[in-house]
Amino acid sequence: MAKVESAVQDHYKDDGLMERIFAFLEKIGIDPGNLTHEDLYACDQMHARGIAATREHVDYSGIAPGMRVLDLGCGIGGSSRYIRTARDCWVTGIDLTQEFIDVARELTERCGLGDGIEYFQANALDMPFEDASFDHVWSHNVTMNIEDKAGLVTEIARILKPGGRFSCSEIEQGPSGDPFYPLPWASEPTFSFLVTPDEMCALQSAGGLRVVEQIDLNEANLAFFREGRERAKSGKPPQNINPLAFKSRDDFLERVRNAGKSAEEGRLVEQLIIAEKS
Ligand SMILES: C[S@@+](CC[C@H](N)C(=O)[O-])C[C@H]1O[C@@H](n2cnc3c(N)ncnc32)[C@H](O)[C@@H]1O
Repeated sequence: MAKVESAVQDHYKDDGLMERIFAFLEKIGIDPGNLTHEDLYACDQMHARGIAATREHVDYSGIAPGMRVLDLGCGIGGSSRYIRTARDCWVTGIDLTQEFIDVARELTERCGLGDGIEYFQANALDMPFEDASFDHVWSHNVTMNIEDKAGLVTEIARILKPGGRFSCSEIEQGPSGDPFYPLPWASEPTFSFLVTPDEMCALQSAGGLRVVEQIDLNEANLAFFREGRERAKSGKPPQNINPLAFKSRDDFLERVRNAGKSAEEGRLVEQLIIAEKS
């Protein structure tokens, strides 16, 4: 295992995540023995703006019924379950972190969605799939942990069918300097690999993907961080919890504050890029 991948795994893995999710669900009045995928929106989206961001990504993606979709860097499967139920397609989720795959499988089975979604532990830079085997590759807040972005794009182009799409919600380097650490996806810059929006588009074009649309998510993110601060000030709980907050390491709030401050100062930006394989 390369140094970067093992640092990323060390960052995300945390034994006991399943139990902490069940405890949270019980606390908010949801029975883990009788779950729907909608119940899980409260705590299964590992990115800012929770299920709203996932819905928006699906709306822009062009994913249609019957497609074979790869959720690359699927975390605990929040996007996979939403894509499957919203668009009636076949979903495969892969993630570097074995514990997330175990939790994704368990939650998906408990929601009765096991027939339409499968999960595997795998590295996005070396995927166990045949050439041209997917109609769509989806990635939501994953690329900032991947150093070899040219290799990533080549691998995605390889597994996409001609005309297939890659939709990628990306946190990127802003114009105003480096972000503040620790951040939710990295404690330090050694395993956070941010490129600018222009650089990411150029990498996609060079790797055989034609960028068809870029959606700026900055305003929506800034509003999310502002609302979070207001809710905290008035003692209200957040509308949903990022499952990274359940880690036994207890500094998630500091990480979110750093992400918010970095976004406010133009050190971090986010866009959704839709690209197509010619
Ligand atoms: C911030 S989480 C986002 C998870 C999920 N996409 C979501 O939005 O709920 C980033 C995920 O990327 C995964 N990841 C990072 N590098 C990866 C790689 N090289 N291959 C596969 N997964 C990777 C991590 O294990 C982690 O689950």
